[in-house]
Amino acid sequence: MAAAGSAVGLGNIWKFPYETGQNGGGAFLIVYLICVIIFGMPLLMTEILIGRNAGKSTFSAFRAITGNNRWQWLGWWSALTVLILTGFYFIVTGWCVDYLYESAVNSFVGMNTDALLTHFNTNVMNAPKMILCSIIPILGTAAILWFGVSSGIERLSKILMPMLLIMMILMTIRVLMLDGSGTGLRFFLAPDFSQITPAVVMEAAGQCFFSLSVGLGLMITYGAYMPKDQEATMTSLSVISLDTLVAVLAGLIIFPAVFAFGFNPAEGPQLVFVVLPAVLQHMTFAWISGVVFFILLFVAALTSTISLMEVIVAGIMELSHGKINRHKSVLISTALIIAIVVVYVLSMTGVWSNLQLFGHNLFELSDTLVTNFMMPLGALAMSLFVGWFMPFQDKDLIPHIQKGYKKWFRPLFVFSLRWIVPIAILLIFLNGLGVLNIK
Ligand code: PHE
Repeated sequence: MAAAGSAVGLGNIWKFPYETGQNGGGAFLIVYLICVIIFGMPLLMTEILIGRNAGKSTFSAFRAITGNNRWQWLGWWSALTVLILTGFYFIVTGWCVDYLYESAVNSFVGMNTDALLTHFNTNVMNAPKMILCSIIPILGTAAILWFGVSSGIERLSKILMPMLLIMMILMTIRVLMLDGSGTGLRFFLAPDFSQITPAVVMEAAGQCFFSLSVGLGLMITYGAYMPKDQEATMTSLSVISLDTLVAVLAGLIIFPAVFAFGFNPAEGPQLVFVVLPAVLQHMTFAWISGVVFFILLFVAALTSTISLMEVIVAGIMELSHGKINRHKSVLISTALIIAIVVVYVLSMTGVWSNLQLFGHNLFELSDTLVTNFMMPLGALAMSLFVGWFMPFQDKDLIPHIQKGYKKWFRPLFVFSLRWIVPIAILLIFLNGLGVLNIK
């Protein structure tokens, strides 16, 4: 449940639709689904397996297994990835807070397409407000980690997650009744294969890692805590299926609405935030639908921020060799994350807007860096680690194996970790970077 909470979040509802819109619609969806099949299952299991063997969280797991420091860099790499990602994730969670408030005070009533866009660009993209709105979920997450109630929140999400699904299904039905929704449905579901370029494949692979929360060793911690008699295969399969379902539902809501209301599918990170209020206004109980939806989205984001911030809190404690206790570590992490958020926000809109690298502000850059490079490279290293270096037995993987199941499963798993996953990631990389020119 914790793994599902980490996986399902803004990646599915915010990032997936805008990435799809920018990268060719249906073609992106197909490549994305292929990536989920090739990478999702083996990588999720890989991380759980590392955690089970090590009994330690991300930062110390590699040392615990190998008994030396040769793979320690991977612990650092994962920690750095989490740190860069957490800042931008909290900013987007802050946008949800903003939209929850605005829905509650009925700000979106009567706004047309242009007004919704202007609203986002002027009202939301406002440095002090963005910082304030991000600090709210940062403090919320910190409080949850401080009082040690994250498992309670995850249990709560057992009720809220189905509610989110039901809400999204209702929104899908409403959207499909709009005039002109067919064009959007075709855009999302009918692939135009000529749109598939190396860059699209790289984006789709990155989105797969991001959405499933794999490639930064976060699931290692969950593997370490997972009851010994719980098998990893079904857990991984359920997480992957649920995560993909939520992403596809988000696409089914956004694209028909984009075309029905006259938005641009390639709008970028603001896409969902301008389209959703338009959709919600058309629901039968518009006000309550808006408020409920943004509360559910906020909780979905929060179960992801808990998993991210926990890695930082645990990392600081481990680095200090126990000198820093959990409460102090929560305080240090909170300060660190707020500092990162402030830097990103100022580089986006504020006084440091000329702080750009490769034509991107730090917010955009952190997203691309983490999603397209750091997570896939982390995943590559972890698959090689388990595939080639880490001894493991069936009992670590599947404690209750039905007959027959084991025979084909283990060789397939090992083969995909040794060959398929690393080669696929390398090819996607070299191709995406233009070293190979396979069209
Ligand atoms: N998977 C989360 C989402 O889809 C984001 C995330 C990535 C969370 C990596 C934790 C680690 O929103």
